[in-house]
Amino acid sequence: MAASPEFDTSVAHPARVYDYWLGGTDNFPADRELGDAMIRAIPTLPAMARANRSFMERAARHLVSSGVTQFLDIGSGIPTSPNLHEIAQAIDPSVRVVYVDNDPLVAEQSRAMLADVPGVAYIHADLTEPETILADPLLAGTLDLSRPVALMVVALLMYFPAERRPERWVAELLAALPSGSRLALSHPTADFDPEAVAAANAAANAAGISLVSRTRAEFTALFGATTLLEPGAVPIATWRPDTPPSDPHEAYYYAGLARKD
Ligand SMILES: C[S@@+](CC[C@H](N)C(=O)[O-])C[C@H]1O[C@@H](n2cnc3c(N)ncnc32)[C@H](O)[C@@H]1O
Repeated sequence: MAASPEFDTSVAHPARVYDYWLGGTDNFPADRELGDAMIRAIPTLPAMARANRSFMERAARHLVSSGVTQFLDIGSGIPTSPNLHEIAQAIDPSVRVVYVDNDPLVAEQSRAMLADVPGVAYIHADLTEPETILADPLLAGTLDLSRPVALMVVALLMYFPAERRPERWVAELLAALPSGSRLALSHPTADFDPEAVAAANAAANAAGISLVSRTRAEFTALFGATTLLEPGAVPIATWRPDTPPSDPHEAYYYAGLARKD
């Protein structure tokens, strides 16, 4: 694809490396170089990216079926079919979705894709500045903030080491949402294969992308004061699977869904 001058394509970007693993076309040589270096450490990384997308899809379907019809999706990524709004609106066309990402390429693609989609908006903003997200008129213009919202933070917090305390930004966003809102999280872990994950993270760090894994306890702590819903914080392949996985640890991610009381 052609790059606009706004994008620095000479360095790897998280959204585009992930797009490469998912088989997308919105990536550049630097992204593919890092993507391949990480695949050398963990050959099943593309399958794990798909497992993460699959969790997002299952969570979206489960949420709409539970009566939660509004979504705030932070770190939404380069549009990948099917997108969250497509999955959720297929069940209930009244579903409303606000996507947020900080990558300029995601902004360009998302705005183009969403121009004519009712009830869906994109805010170009950063998780680390929740006040900017909350103050954007598109948020209150799209979502009814007096009714429960599902805050989706899917494969995002691994860019922030513990000392940056990413859970505080999640908590700040949740504080603006009413009781009954939900929090969906997924996150890579080294628990199932420490050596391979350490090598993959080292490749990312060498390319300038800070990437950390979290243990199950560290992942669970990200939910803060919310109440984890069944089945809890679990290996991603085992979170309400459509069909039981042959190996519960096949994808090196944890996932969970919680309720704000
Ligand atoms: C691995 S992708 C996950 C995409 C999608 N949530 C999914 O799970 O399929 C991570 C996304 O987070 C975005 N991102 C990274 N840091 C961010 C930040 N500080 N604020 C907002 N988005 C961020 C990246 O641009 C990328 O699109």
